[in-house]
Amino acid sequence: MQDVNLGIVGLGNVGSGTLTILSENAGQIARKLGFRLNVAAVCSRSAKSRTLPEAAKSAFVTEDWGEVVNHPGVDVVAELIGGTTVAREVVEGAIAAGKSVVTANKELIALDGAAIWQKAAARGVTLAMEASVCGGIPIHAVLREGIAGDRVETLFGILNGTSNYILTEIEQHGSAFDDVLAEAQKLGYAEADPTADVDGFDARSKLALLASLAFGVRLHPDSIHTEGIRRVSPIDFQYARQLGCTIKLLCSARRDGSGLFVSVRSALLARNTIMAGVQGAYNAVWCRGAFGADTFYYGRGAGPNPTGVAVVSDLMRVARELRPSPAHRVPPFAFTSLEESAPLDIGLQKRPWYLRFRITDRPGIIRDLSSILAEHAISIDAVLQLPDQDKHNLPFVITLESSPEAAVRRAVEKMSKLDFMVQPPLALPIERGL
Ligand SMILES: NC(=O)c1ccc[n+]([C@@H]2O[C@H](COP(=O)([O-])OP(=O)(O)OC[C@H]3O[C@@H](n4cnc5c(N)ncnc54)[C@H](OP(=O)(O)O)[C@@H]3O)[C@@H](O)[C@H]2O)c1
Repeated sequence: MQDVNLGIVGLGNVGSGTLTILSENAGQIARKLGFRLNVAAVCSRSAKSRTLPEAAKSAFVTEDWGEVVNHPGVDVVAELIGGTTVAREVVEGAIAAGKSVVTANKELIALDGAAIWQKAAARGVTLAMEASVCGGIPIHAVLREGIAGDRVETLFGILNGTSNYILTEIEQHGSAFDDVLAEAQKLGYAEADPTADVDGFDARSKLALLASLAFGVRLHPDSIHTEGIRRVSPIDFQYARQLGCTIKLLCSARRDGSGLFVSVRSALLARNTIMAGVQGAYNAVWCRGAFGADTFYYGRGAGPNPTGVAVVSDLMRVARELRPSPAHRVPPFAFTSLEESAPLDIGLQKRPWYLRFRITDRPGIIRDLSSILAEHAISIDAVLQLPDQDKHNLPFVITLESSPEAAVRRAVEKMSKLDFMVQPPLALPIERGL
């Protein structure tokens, strides 16, 4: 089956992540599509002096975006420049040339996406923009398709990773806003000009876009009430804690009668809510539908690879839509064909473990248990025991370093037979990093 040829304009954070994924995940992408995505042309101001990833090795390289947009071999153009000037020319130029466009550009799409889409529709091509909001969270797909059958009543989002990182640092370390911002700039988490992030303008563009998808409305970003995080200080977190709350830069769109309340501003959130647990540079979106109730989406809001995944997934969807046959629609199992498979033996899986015992206390118990563990080449991480427990039914815990499940099961089986066991040990894996 014929490849689909891509033109990539912009090779910065998102462009390079996109090319990395097209290089390193080409096999899976082709298995899902049933054909290959071929990078035919790439462009940036300094493209000719760049080392390009594998996928772009045989691409036409130029520093003039017009040569990508008008390249006869390019079927789909990805605009990954940003801003509303040259990017607009690239997007509109590609549409005029009869090419579908994938973009990560929240600013341009929030400002003028509806008009651009009308031009694309009139020209019979597609506009795809998953990466424009919450880079790594497929929130467009969710609102466009996943929960399309519902009627969204409320949408809350933490849509700016930089401000969430700054607020998290202020809360955890009690540092002042200016100090945290300076540190974030030094570490590359915040731009030299942080205005778009800390004053809420970046989040505002994203909220305008999500409101379009959730409520079917066009909101000019300037019409959204927006306040940033500059005035939030450590003392506010101390008071918020006393109220059982934390503080987040919260984007909110809520249907009320025939209208919407829409805002971007710092707000107190109860600490026991799922949104309050969104820490550091992560993003999240929470929707309440009239029928499906609450759904929650969480992930990295930015970064070359998470955003690159969104761009590549859009490129796949658009490439599919170039083919008229139903055989090329999204397969229900994601892949065009499935390989026969059986799960790996769970016993081979290595995990840290929690072993909880109930025993009749006597000297030498730890010695007996640790010698069984040593026989099975299992290392102890920690031993925990609460004071003042019943000595005839004494609970205590041993945690184990990462060990194969089969060995742990055998050791637990042997321990169960020891005469001081009141009941067989309870063995639970410890899942870290979730
Ligand atoms: N960064 C993220 O994590 C993220 C997440 C979600 C969405 N986005 C969006 O993705 C887009 C790109 O962001 P980014 O962070 O990748 O930006 P970036 O790192 O600044 O990269 C921009 C790229 O565009 C190229 N470029 C700029 N002007 C050009 C021109 N006139 N002709 C040709 N190439 C030009 C630059 O070329 P040179 O390299 O040669 O200067 C650079 O390669 C923006 O719309 C942004 O809002 C970014």
